[in-house]
Amino acid sequence: MIDQIYRKTVLTVAGNKSVEALMRSRGWSLAQRFVAGEQASDVIGAVQELQKDGIGGILDLLGEFVDSVETANAFAEQILALMDQAAAAGIKPYVSVKLSGIGQGMTVDGQDLGLTNARRLLTKAAQYGGFLALDMEDHPRVDVTLAQFRTLVEEFGHAVVGTVLQSYLYRTEADLQALGDLRPNLRIVKGAYLEPPSVAMPDKADVDASYRKLVYANLKAGHYTNVATHDESIIDDVKMFVLSHGIPRSQFEFQLLYGVRRDLQKKLAAEGYTVRAYIPYGRDWYAYFSRRIAERPGNALFVLRGLLKG
Ligand code: FDA
Repeated sequence: MIDQIYRKTVLTVAGNKSVEALMRSRGWSLAQRFVAGEQASDVIGAVQELQKDGIGGILDLLGEFVDSVETANAFAEQILALMDQAAAAGIKPYVSVKLSGIGQGMTVDGQDLGLTNARRLLTKAAQYGGFLALDMEDHPRVDVTLAQFRTLVEEFGHAVVGTVLQSYLYRTEADLQALGDLRPNLRIVKGAYLEPPSVAMPDKADVDASYRKLVYANLKAGHYTNVATHDESIIDDVKMFVLSHGIPRSQFEFQLLYGVRRDLQKKLAAEGYTVRAYIPYGRDWYAYFSRRIAERPGNALFVLRGLLKG
């Protein structure tokens, strides 16, 4: 409950226009702990650094809740160019995208623009032997994102496209079951948005229990599972679970955020697990950075100290 109050306070303060203006003008150096840089070359450089430790990268161009067709299309174009640049640097592009950033909810030629642009991204990802993950956003977008995920798996196959389920939502266990026929590639996260108690569990203990349940269910079903957390007790439990159920390492991976628990990322990779870091880059870093602060009180202190230092 305290975690929930902390998260709510931070995200509410972050939504204040004056706070946003202050952070945008003075917070970039602090945000760089979590964001690789502003250019595609920055994120590609970050992947190459991580690869030295046996860690892969998930490329994420920052941007969400876009409200014009032109901006959504320009955003998709930037991701397509990113994939070309990554491939030219010898990296198979594993990209994460928020469908709201590429036009979800806007209709063009009778089609949802988010879906149309996702098809363009997937065509290119498939060409390079890469992968596209559809991030999960706030709860009003879950139905449409899962429906579009279904369409895309049916068109491109489950080896090239995945999506995310959030353990804080009451609905997620049913969603996991409903996706079963697709043999889905799923990233399981706890959930990062400010959600009302009518849809999301307010207690951290419940969210954690739900997390374990979802990961175990997806693994037992034989589906590829991206265990996306920094929670070491969960990571240790998953390691035990796969051992005791004879689940091969080729059926799951650990995913962590760039700039968070780098020690743990290296340790898991050294133990021989597949590990990928989610690496955001781009100019639109404020909303992403706010969610990272909301995850951990220590991060708010880090920001305050940074701002006071000027
Ligand atoms: P929890 O919050 O319980 O933290 C466990 C421990 O991890 C903490 O005690 C702390 O040590 C460390 N930690 C966690 N967050 C930290 C931070 N920001 N800074 C420093 N230390 C931190 N969410 C979503 O809604 N949709 C999505 O698509 C995604 N995608 C995604 C991809 C990947 C690869 C990851 C790792 C996470 C996401 N998330 C997400 C975010 C996710 O929902 C969640 O908010 C964060 O992962 C934090 O939760 P943990 O599982 O780490 O546990």
